[in-house]
Amino acid sequence: MLPIVLLSVLSAVYAAVVPQLGFESHLPSQVAAGVQPLGKNVTINGVLTYVTLPKKKFDPKIAVLLLTDVFGLPSPDNLVLADQWAAAGFATFAPDYLNGDALPPDGLGNITAWAVNHGEAQTTPPLLAVVNALKSRGVKQIAVTGYCFGGLYTVRLVQNNTVTVGTTAHPSSLDVPIDFEVVKAQSHVPIEINNAELDTGFTPALAVETDSVLDDGQYPPGYLRRQFNGVGHGFAVRANASDPVQVAAKNGAFDTSLAFIKKHLK
Ligand SMILES: *[C@@H]1O[C@H](CO)[C@@H](O)[C@H](O)[C@H]1NC(C)=O
Ligand SMILES: *[C@@H]1O[C@H](CO)[C@@H](O)[C@H](O)[C@H]1NC(C)=O
Ligand SMILES: *[C@@H]1O[C@H](CO)[C@@H](O)[C@H](O)[C@H]1NC(C)=O
Ligand SMILES: *[C@@H]1O[C@H](CO)[C@@H](O)[C@H](O)[C@H]1NC(C)=O
Repeated sequence: MLPIVLLSVLSAVYAAVVPQLGFESHLPSQVAAGVQPLGKNVTINGVLTYVTLPKKKFDPKIAVLLLTDVFGLPSPDNLVLADQWAAAGFATFAPDYLNGDALPPDGLGNITAWAVNHGEAQTTPPLLAVVNALKSRGVKQIAVTGYCFGGLYTVRLVQNNTVTVGTTAHPSSLDVPIDFEVVKAQSHVPIEINNAELDTGFTPALAVETDSVLDDGQYPPGYLRRQFNGVGHGFAVRANASDPVQVAAKNGAFDTSLAFIKKHLK
C-alpha cells in the first residue's frame, strides 16, 4: 500500500491542477493615493467581513459575495473592487476567509508555505458561515464573484448549488476539467469566466478545455467565457492606470461579470 501522502503527490502530478500564484505573478497595489474604501468591516457570524452598500436604494434580498485573492481584506484593491460592485447596485460582502492570514503584500510571503494553512478545510467554514448568515437574514439570491484564490470557491459554491449565479476571473487551484465536469453533472447555477491570455495558471489551453465541457449549450443553466488579451494573472483586480490595455481589460472583466449576473438574477 502506498502511503496517503505519496498517493496525493502522485495524483497532483497527473491532474491538471491550476497552480496558486504568489506575489511575483501580481502587480503591487494599484489603488491611487487618496482613494479610500467606502465600506466597513463588520463581524458576521464570527467572521470579519468587508461590507459595502450602494448609495442608492437597493434590493436587500440580493447580495454579491466577493471572494478575494490571496491578499485578502488588507489589500485596498480588493476593497475598492467590492465598492465597485456596490456602486453597481448590490449589497456586497467580502468575507475574510483567509482567517486573518492574508499573504503579505510586499513579496515577503511564501505562497507554498502559506497554502498549507489555506486549503478547503480552513477556508470553507468561514465562507459558509457568512453565506448562511446572509441567508438567515433574508438574502434570497447570492451572486458570487471570485478572483484568483476565490475562483476555486466560486466553482465550489456553483457545484453545490449554494448561490444563484457565479463569475470568476483568473481562477486558481481548480482541477481542470474535473471540477467543471462536476459542475455539469450536479449544478443548475450559471457560471461565467474571465481569463487572461498571459495567465500562467489558468492558461488559455485550460480555458479551452473548460469550454469543451460547458460551451455550445452543453451546460443549459448558462456559460460564458471571455478571454482578455495582452494581460496576465490578476488583471481583473489590479490594472496599471498608465497602461490602456490593462485598464480596458479590468473594466471589460467587470462589465462582463456584471452583465452576466444581472441576466441570471431572477
Ligand atoms: C478591514 O480589515 C482589514 C483586515 O484587518 C484591514 O486591513 C482594512 O484596512 C479594514 N478596512 C476597513 C475599511 O476598515
Ligand atoms: C517556501 O516554503 C516551502 C515549503 O515550506 C519551502 O520548501 C521553500 O524552501 C520556501 N521558499 C523560500 C524561498 O523560502
Ligand atoms: C461543497 O460540497 C462538498 C461536498 O459536500 C464539500 O466537501 C465542500 O466543502 C462544499 N464546499 C463549499 C464551498 O460549499
Ligand atoms: C505601469 O505602466 C507604466 C507605463 O507603461 C510603466 O512605466 C510602469 O513601470 C508600470 N508600473 C508597473 C507597476 O508595472
